[in-house]
Amino acid sequence: MKDMDISPLVQADGKTTTPGYMPGFGNDYETEALPGALPQGMNSPQKCNYGLYGEQLSGTAFTAPSHQNERTWCYRIRPSVKHSHRYEKIDVPYWKTAPNVVEDVTSLGQYRWDPVPHTDEPLTWLTGMRTMTTAGDVNTQVGMASHIYLVTESMVDSYFYSADSELLVVPQEGRLRFCTELGVIDIEPKEIAILPRGLVYRVEVLEGPARGFVCENYGQKYELPGRGPIGANCMANRRDFKAPVAAFEDREVPSTLTIKWCGQFHETKIGHSPLDVVAWHGNYAPVKYDLSDYCPIGAILFDHPDPSIFTVLTAPSGVPGTANIDFVLFRERWMTMEDTFRPPWYHKNVMSEMMGNIYGQYDAKPDGFAPGSISLHNMMLPHGPDRNAFEGASNADLKPEKLDNTMSFMFETRFPQHLTEFAGKEAPLQDNYIDCWADLEKKFDGTPGKK
Ligand SMILES: [Fe+2]
Repeated sequence: MKDMDISPLVQADGKTTTPGYMPGFGNDYETEALPGALPQGMNSPQKCNYGLYGEQLSGTAFTAPSHQNERTWCYRIRPSVKHSHRYEKIDVPYWKTAPNVVEDVTSLGQYRWDPVPHTDEPLTWLTGMRTMTTAGDVNTQVGMASHIYLVTESMVDSYFYSADSELLVVPQEGRLRFCTELGVIDIEPKEIAILPRGLVYRVEVLEGPARGFVCENYGQKYELPGRGPIGANCMANRRDFKAPVAAFEDREVPSTLTIKWCGQFHETKIGHSPLDVVAWHGNYAPVKYDLSDYCPIGAILFDHPDPSIFTVLTAPSGVPGTANIDFVLFRERWMTMEDTFRPPWYHKNVMSEMMGNIYGQYDAKPDGFAPGSISLHNMMLPHGPDRNAFEGASNADLKPEKLDNTMSFMFETRFPQHLTEFAGKEAPLQDNYIDCWADLEKKFDGTPGKK
């Protein structure tokens, strides 16, 4: 384990910036690192204070409906065109993008992997990204990719942005710092972060090695699911999301900016840090969220609701109710249902389900799904509790029971997920996973009244 804290952003007065946050999700934030840096009452004054340049970052089309329209105005030392020069294509071999169908890897199947182990190789956010599955097509801005990250090294004078996607980051081990154009976000296990498409950042390791999961969303942005009859409260509440306050650095050192664009990676050399936004306002911003703030809703008399009841975030696909991605959380909760098989039921689904374990034990699979593991139940492939979970739940004395010390999640997409070569050939695939259902017995007995 290594502790690093190499370079929080530095203010003009030389003081180190520590993360500070503003509450909300998708609301209109405003923040300035220097007094008076943010224009009031207008976006484009003839001259900005402190000699700053005004620049808009558009996260949606100009004409997107107003409840979905997202953009942020930045007041920065240099406009972004100065953070860009000639591009050179580079190889980032383990970060794959859809479409990516590997001929000799079979995606049809129920799969589970042990935690991908760390190695001695120093790995950054870029080189440590291991794509497990891809779905859809980045060129038409639909679909997603799921990744495991293994990060041991901070990015130094090196920056990144994805033009392809917004990234949902789910740490499982270690602590990371995202120094972004719009401010600093620190995250650790139990928290998540959303990094919008086009946002420049570098990733530092605060405590390593760091491992976690990433869902790369090629499509429409994540939003909070509608609660319907649940009403105005519970599940994820907007106020519990945190956007960073403005922080910048005025540092002239040789630097590298890498851009992911239609699945290819390109590098450009610049002479300064691009993290030079002194003030900003708008609703297109990175956020973090503490999953322990998620308030689960569930059955209080009988039966087991669909897992969509636990949706934290949803990224729409254009077909109502059919998500490009749902991010679903299985956390600590009480089980109180009467005369009910309480674990998740047996299932076959048009959606594809990628699950990961953050900590503890998952109720449908008590064994073989250690923290850091992932499983994939692809489009229309059956799955459900293993024999032990079935027998235990079928014969349990149904008192109120707390599922404690448990946090798993699902990236669920309307698209079939294709395994990468890494997932099929290098990652620690559990060959015997499907055997967990082998011992399920035929119990049928045609005698009337028999259970
Ligand atoms: Fe399922």
